Amino acid sequence: MSKQFDVVVIGGGPGGYIAAIRAAQLGFQVACIDEWKNAAGGPAPGGTCTNVGCIPSKALLQSSEHFDHANHHFAEHGISAKDVKMDVAKMIARKDNVVKQNNDGILYLLKKNKVTFFHGRGSFAGQAEGGYTINVAGKTEEAITAKQVIIATGSNARALPGTPFDEVNVLSNDGALRVGTVPKKLALIGSGVIGLEMGSVWRRLGSEVTILEGLPTFLGAVDEQIAKEAKKAFDKQGLKIELGVKVGEIVNGKKGVTVNYTNAKGEAVVLDADKLIISIGRVPNTIGLNTEAVGLQLDERGAIVVDADCKTNLPGVWAVGDVVRGPMLAHKAEEEGVAVAERIAGQHGHVNFNTIPWVIYTSPEIAWVGRTEQQLKADGVAYKAGSFPFLANGRARALGDTTGMVKMLADATTDEILGVHIVGPMASELIAEAVVAMEFRASAEDIARICHAHPSLSESTKEAALAVDKRTLNF
Ligand code: FAD
Ligand code: NAI
Repeated sequence: MSKQFDVVVIGGGPGGYIAAIRAAQLGFQVACIDEWKNAAGGPAPGGTCTNVGCIPSKALLQSSEHFDHANHHFAEHGISAKDVKMDVAKMIARKDNVVKQNNDGILYLLKKNKVTFFHGRGSFAGQAEGGYTINVAGKTEEAITAKQVIIATGSNARALPGTPFDEVNVLSNDGALRVGTVPKKLALIGSGVIGLEMGSVWRRLGSEVTILEGLPTFLGAVDEQIAKEAKKAFDKQGLKIELGVKVGEIVNGKKGVTVNYTNAKGEAVVLDADKLIISIGRVPNTIGLNTEAVGLQLDERGAIVVDADCKTNLPGVWAVGDVVRGPMLAHKAEEEGVAVAERIAGQHGHVNFNTIPWVIYTSPEIAWVGRTEQQLKADGVAYKAGSFPFLANGRARALGDTTGMVKMLADATTDEILGVHIVGPMASELIAEAVVAMEFRASAEDIARICHAHPSLSESTKEAALAVDKRTLNF
């Protein structure tokens, strides 16, 4: 007889493993199936985020930032560091170790919460009495059943038609995190989040980086003023970003890759590079899930169709994270996982899509929550804007990084905060205050009246709130 569970979670990324833990906390018998393998063939839960996404990319960003500081910023502090070298193999090994610590941490958490972990591929075998049978194909094959199934199978990198990833010269995010030596010339297609983060890593380490972007605008989803400020900083660093290009033939040869493209002026350009990273978005992943066996509905992009509560077209089957609509972010996947587990338990799980923060971990960092100025204009909302430059912040001066600003947008009538946009040092941490403020529907005046520690970067958020009412104190 097959093993029976109350809840089976397919996928052990941030959506899946968090859903499994929350369901177990709520008293259910839970199984979590994940197929990711580490180099030794063992389990490596954590999904894209832990293995080839959030965590390893931030590890490389940190290493490369140290290198950049040693080369370009130590001197102004009176520190001389001559002949600074980067051991790429050691940097990659450190990154791998950071990933392993996270894999092990997740295995420990699953065990601690009494979640049964299966290492292998889960697929629908069909309906079972009052629920579903899921086949698990790992080292051995077995079938398990559950009344409730949560699908959290994530996403995969989108390839350019005709240019498959070989992970040697033509790289997805996976290969981009494993490059063994600094490429002299690196080309990237797509100046979205991965393009900018990965481009920054290798530029800091000495690559000549060119990013080709199809759209005529830079970071179209970001507040225009913030995107402009970020672009200025990237240009100054030597990150070459070409907008409005049309990528043509790509030749993956023995010595490297040649990208033929038409630039914004309509001129034909040939770009030779040692490596090419393609970062043009991601596609929802349902490979091997055998959705046909149960009639699970997918949309034209291949995403699992869900309602606002993450319910699919099948009773007792839910889907969360990258495999469904909405932003492809780890914290969004986690929030959905928790909410679904709570709904299964009869509680009122809740995800507020209006307060999901975004962060791009470049230097300067870019972070935002809520609506941009261009969105408010398009929505016909009357708003007030206030901004404060890090140039006027004492802590930023002491840190030696005064790039950027905090910008706050508030309703013209009620003063409710509608969006906060930051480009500059530690934007990833500063944005948390804005998320809390928006979640509690704070006004700009609320933030302006709160005591912020001095000297801290967070004083810039307070000053931006004061600026909404045209009364900054330090600018
Ligand atoms: P995933 O993390 O993709 O996990 C899905 C898991 O399911 C995988 O382990 C997969 O092997 C497994 N699986 C799939 N099918 C089956 C099956 N049939 N049986 C068993 N197992 C299966 N987001 C952020 O919020 N912050 C960041 O800084 C960030 N950085 C990123 C950097 C890069 C380079 C990339 C590529 C992504 C980054 N993301 C970041 C996005 C983030 O990784 C995803 O949004 C997040 O991982 C989605 O979580 P998930 O649980 O939906 O899916
Ligand atoms: P993206 O959607 O962020 O950016 C893709 C870019 O490629 C866009 O600017 C798009 O206009 C461009 N593009 C698409 N097709 C093109 C073509 N044929 N030629 C030229 N340009 C083209 O996708 P990306 O960078 O691949 O990242 C995928 C997702 O992973 C992100 O959207 C995000 O959800 C997640 N992620 C999050 C991170 C974070 O939170 N810090 C870091 C990295 C990834």
